[in-house]
Amino acid sequence: KEHGALAGKRVLVTAGGTVERLDPVRYLTNDSSGKMGFAIAEAAKVMGAEVTVVAGRTSIDAPAGVNVVRVESAQQMLDAVLERFEESDIVVKSAAVADYRPVTRHGQKIKKSGEMLTLELEKTTDILQTLGERKTHQLLIGFAAETEQLEKYAMDKLKRKNADLIVGNDVSLDGAGFNGDTNIVQLYGPEGLIEAMPLLSKRETAQRILTVASQRMAKGAAR
Ligand code: PMT
Repeated sequence: KEHGALAGKRVLVTAGGTVERLDPVRYLTNDSSGKMGFAIAEAAKVMGAEVTVVAGRTSIDAPAGVNVVRVESAQQMLDAVLERFEESDIVVKSAAVADYRPVTRHGQKIKKSGEMLTLELEKTTDILQTLGERKTHQLLIGFAAETEQLEKYAMDKLKRKNADLIVGNDVSLDGAGFNGDTNIVQLYGPEGLIEAMPLLSKRETAQRILTVASQRMAKGAAR
């Protein structure tokens, strides 16, 4: 019954982990495989949307039939997303974006010297927050990857980043979070908990998130 629920809509999804380079051969990244973001892109396509996925480092191929834009760093992801934000109806920020990056990107391989090496890191721009400040008509969906106090932190992110929905993801649970084919999430809106999902495939999780999103679009909740 969900077929066509997003017909005529443009959906922008971010997937995977960002890569922050330290020198020509070393970088900081995280465990994101891209599976959750790609599942959302795929589900949106099945529901009739025109889909673009901005993908960082991923361990699987992107789904067929969606536009794929490859990026590395949080800054590149920000630029790619901002370029396509205006024309998007729904934006889903499932990527695991670096919160900090090395202050200096060394041109040459860092040589081994003393016993200790201190890396200096600086904050990256928060993409979701930037979109929350700029949104006009878009339905903005963020994630909150947490290991404790899921509801509190998810609601805090929803308000602070001006998102319309937050997918709360307790990544400490078995079968949830990074890398696997399943997830366990709780969907929050401005009113609080909307749906606490059981352990489901990432595909089914994605379908349920987008079903709620399409209902809210239809109601004009984003405007
Ligand atoms: O890719 P998989 O292996 O399938 O794993 C899926 C997942 C665990 C990565 C995914 O389900 C998930 O939880 N993604 C969000 C990870 C994350 O960065 O969460 P966060 O709580 O640190 O960030 C909150 C939100 O702000 C996220 O929507 C994030 O994309 C966004 N953010 C964070 C930092 C930043 N600089 N810019 C951002 O936009």
